Amino acid sequence: MSGLDESISITRVAPKKSFFDISAIGTIMKIVVLGLFVVVFCANVEGKVYTKCGLTNELITLNFPRTFIGNWVCLIESESGKNTSRITNRANGKQGVGLFQIKSKDWCTFGKKGGTCNVKCEDMLDENIKDDGVCAEKVKNEFGFLAWDGWKRSCKGRNLPLPPC
Ligand SMILES: *[C@@H]1O[C@H](CO)[C@@H](O)[C@H](O)[C@H]1NC(C)=O
Repeated sequence: MSGLDESISITRVAPKKSFFDISAIGTIMKIVVLGLFVVVFCANVEGKVYTKCGLTNELITLNFPRTFIGNWVCLIESESGKNTSRITNRANGKQGVGLFQIKSKDWCTFGKKGGTCNVKCEDMLDENIKDDGVCAEKVKNEFGFLAWDGWKRSCKGRNLPLPPC
């Protein structure tokens, strides 16, 4: 009986440490995975910059009427440079927020849901532009494209068909 116990304990010797310890791979993997999470998380916070065709296809996916997509793309190029995280200071302490440069205070509020669109302005700065699009359509329904200085400046009076992609 006691002889058997001893033979078991002998098999439990610590594995010999080599220069490249195989158990370190687990630690390295954890660091790599953690690093990837940080990169992905930061990329989301940073938002994204669309290409012209990437933007066109996204607006089609979001069911924007095709006849107006040329104007929306022109407006977005002019207002935000197709950058979802663009934020600019405007008159009366307002800010232009995100891809469509939705005006804070009027259409969204920082810190909590508010404005005519009843959204947080922070939510207009991420990569998800569905909520931005809903709000932008609301602005257009009320004031037309004339609500955007960037549209008046760069797009008004131009023939702007659906960009060929
Ligand atoms: C997008 O906008 C953000 C916020 O203004 C800015 O930090 C970033 O550099 C812009 N990206 C590009 C590619 O212009």
